[in-house]
Amino acid sequence: MTDERRVTRRLVVDPQSPSAKVISAAAVILREGGLVAFPTETVYGLGAHALIPSAVKKLFAAKGRPAHNPIIVHVANAKAARALVTDWPATAERLARAFWPGPLTMLLPKREIVPDVVTATKPTVGVRVPAHPVALALLEMARIPVAAPSANRSSKLSPTAGHHVLAGLNGRIDVLLDAGRTPGGIESTVVDLTGPRPTILRPGLISAAEVARVTGPLGERAAAVSADLPLDSPGMMERHYAPRARLELCSRRQMPTRVIAEHKRPVGAVLLGEPLDLPPEVQVSVLPGDPRQYAALLYATLHELDDAGCRTVVVESVPEQEEWDAVRDRLKRAATE
Ligand code: TXA
Ligand code: MG
Repeated sequence: MTDERRVTRRLVVDPQSPSAKVISAAAVILREGGLVAFPTETVYGLGAHALIPSAVKKLFAAKGRPAHNPIIVHVANAKAARALVTDWPATAERLARAFWPGPLTMLLPKREIVPDVVTATKPTVGVRVPAHPVALALLEMARIPVAAPSANRSSKLSPTAGHHVLAGLNGRIDVLLDAGRTPGGIESTVVDLTGPRPTILRPGLISAAEVARVTGPLGERAAAVSADLPLDSPGMMERHYAPRARLELCSRRQMPTRVIAEHKRPVGAVLLGEPLDLPPEVQVSVLPGDPRQYAALLYATLHELDDAGCRTVVVESVPEQEEWDAVRDRLKRAATE
């Protein structure tokens, strides 16, 4: 059998008021088991009909995603989320009211209709109502739950612009709904609601403090897992969210010596808040000192440094404060060899 490469159709849509005609074309493709990349308020997702196992299998193949890594199911509203789970605790209702549509994914016990391929045979399913107008319009039009991981090849940087999606997946998916940049820039917060206390499995755009304000005290996340163990949330997989260049973290003070000593050139440097005097051959990006604004630009910056041919990217360490948790988490994973 030949591995027939398909052509990916890029459909440009307005991020605020997407054309109903374009959205409906994409919705039909999803309903028929095709693969559609679409913007969310965090990063681009790669969607497949969550209740058709063969469609979800195609999605794993397109991404090169290991079968043990479960996929978040996106729905248009909390009612549609409830239809996928066997339990809807008061905490889930409160979190949904506080943060949906928005960058929060809740893990709850799954109903039988959710195929094992979506949840990697886990008894739980991750559900989320995204806030991007294009994502919501697509989900409302398709009227199906849509399994959607980030629209990148497995373990690579998540896409925050249409061209990032095509760079990894052109020819491997049916449609890209291209609405330009995604505003949030890093992925949703994943909170597990199946234990005695809500537990953050992946820090994200909604901080642990914001979740705790709604739910009360949070449980402790399991300590670092070894790559051989079954994973609670494979976002915990060690190397993840990584650019092609080798990424290293270092303090602002050490930055000049660090970039000068680097043999693997060209070298890129990502600074926090303020510029710094560095050799002219270093490709420098200065990101904002505010964690949300930093998150919004992080992946796009790393994509740019990759595209500029950098073999090493040295990133200034970010503060230890909780509001930086999600950014620190992504940087740490990207830096893992
Ligand atoms: O912002 C986001 O969450 C983006 C957009 C597209 O919605 N999606 C995203 O999906 O980042 P993905 O597949 O790249 O990351 C989903 C994370 C992974 O760490 C996965 O292991 C975890 O959520 N996850 C999903 N379902 C799970 C489940 N049933 N149990 C444990 N972890 C789960
Ligand atoms: Mg991902």
